[in-house]
Amino acid sequence: MAVKNMDELVARRLELSLRSALGLPLRWIQRNFRWLAHGIGLLPLGLILFTGVTSGLTVNPIQFLTLRTGKAALIMVVLTLACTPVNTLFHFKEALTARRTFGLYSFFYAFLHVSIFVGLDYVFDLKLIVDSVLEKRYILAGLGAFLIFLPLAVTSFDWWKKRLGKNWKRLHRMVYLGALLAVVHYTWLVKSDIRVPLLYGAGIVILLVMRIPAVRRKLANLKFRRAG
Ligand code: HEM
Repeated sequence: MAVKNMDELVARRLELSLRSALGLPLRWIQRNFRWLAHGIGLLPLGLILFTGVTSGLTVNPIQFLTLRTGKAALIMVVLTLACTPVNTLFHFKEALTARRTFGLYSFFYAFLHVSIFVGLDYVFDLKLIVDSVLEKRYILAGLGAFLIFLPLAVTSFDWWKKRLGKNWKRLHRMVYLGALLAVVHYTWLVKSDIRVPLLYGAGIVILLVMRIPAVRRKLANLKFRRAG
């Protein structure tokens, strides 16, 4: 490439050194992304345990655990949905390998969340649980989300992928419905300020739009996509 003047030369040098400075941490992230994903997935559990050991679980431990595990499940759902768009935008294939990891962590936290509700909050009282599902619309929405995530988690393994063939993809598209139901659950349970749940909802809708083939093609052609 022809360098026209001194300024251009300096700019080019700067760009090259910036690229190599960024390259190292990027390559490290790429190589270790599988482990990083586990680190991110286990972080909420670590924080919950740390808070429990150091400062107790507040005056209402059951509510504390319910809220924390619910939030962790939703964050993991968003991370799962973000993997494909991140690959489309930055050609970061490692994100695709982390999809299942984040998906399973989201189910893990959702399972803990529901178990705390059923076992600690309602001490397995089936009648009380059914009454609360029928009375509280946010519980119904949460149950809907959980019932969608359950078969997705069970069938997330390669054996099921092979067995289900094309239907596997169809089934796993349900993750969006589950994610939206989880946001509805969150929005309905919040009493006044619904800005945070709506922010999660907006994020999920944006990630969904980014998967529409026409949008995806446009994004794939953007300039900052890393060279293959
Ligand atoms: C049978 C299914 C479910 C039940 C019974 C349930 C129940 C609850 C309850 C009782 C709360 C606390 C309400 C309060 O104390 O004000 C809550 C909060 C929450 N749940 Fe669920 N939930 C279910 C499924 C889910 C799922 C599948 C997700 C996400 C993937 C989820 C995400 C949340 C979130 C984000 C919160 C609020 C956390 C916060 O405010 O920090 N829930 N849920």
